[in-house]
Amino acid sequence: MLSLALTSFLLPLFASAATLSPRATTLIPSTCFDSTTTFEKYFVYTYPWGGTTHNGGARMDKAHVSLSSSVLTLTAQKVSGQPSATHGGKTIPINYLSGAVGAKQTFTVPKSGGLVFSASLKATTTKGTWPAFWLTAVDGWPPEVDMAEWKGNGKVSFNTFNTSSVLQWKDVGYPDPGNFHEFRTELRDVNGKDVKVELYMDGKLQATQVGGGYTGKALYLVINLQMEGSSGSPGPAGNMTYSIKDLVVSTL
Ligand SMILES: *[C@@H]1O[C@H](CO)[C@@H](O)[C@H](O)[C@H]1NC(C)=O
Ligand SMILES: *[C@@H]1O[C@H](CO)[C@@H](O)[C@H](O)[C@H]1NC(C)=O
Repeated sequence: MLSLALTSFLLPLFASAATLSPRATTLIPSTCFDSTTTFEKYFVYTYPWGGTTHNGGARMDKAHVSLSSSVLTLTAQKVSGQPSATHGGKTIPINYLSGAVGAKQTFTVPKSGGLVFSASLKATTTKGTWPAFWLTAVDGWPPEVDMAEWKGNGKVSFNTFNTSSVLQWKDVGYPDPGNFHEFRTELRDVNGKDVKVELYMDGKLQATQVGGGYTGKALYLVINLQMEGSSGSPGPAGNMTYSIKDLVVSTL
């Protein structure tokens, strides 16, 4: 009886507090890489739309995704004899097996709202390696926000697309790929239609971009180690890795 009375007293309080100052809601918690069970609650072992190939020279499988000490590691391994992939009407030779993981849920910036994605990433910049931490449209394309993408050239790219040829991009020097770096992307509705994208690395704002018409559009979250493609070829013969830890997704 006491608890019932308390509940009926507290609920209206919480409701009015929420209206006055909305609290951030955690969508993917920092514990997501703590165990296989937790990981599988939030992620699938392929691209989130279900494919195992995309626009580069790697085919993704579960064997190239590993979890250890709350760190997710994707490993690319050179192989031969794989069937090629097709993307956008083009045939792409598959020279690697590697890992891609996709969030099970999709993410939408609502009117007057926002989202924040943060993670520590250790990425390779070797020619032929194409790791990325990115968002892409569930229906059609764009939206696409590359919250961090490395194209084998010693730099990290931050990109927001309005069309395939109209995009804002920023390439930043990336001299220390052997260590983890912190990435944080904040997406905010600006006018009920467009989304401001603020891209941070190591606590410093690297770029502010605007996604035209992104408000209300569902996004997939992808973490993948593609190979070759935009990062050049041939890629390396030895295994290459891309690691991620401390991932959190929340509302703003
Ligand atoms: C994309 O569209 C938004 C909204 O119209 C605009 O503010 C932004 O400048 C556009 N980006 C580019 C690269 O033109
Ligand atoms: C390369 O990675 C694969 C998949 O993780 C592993 O099975 C293989 O032993 C690795 N090869 C070397 C030489 O480390």
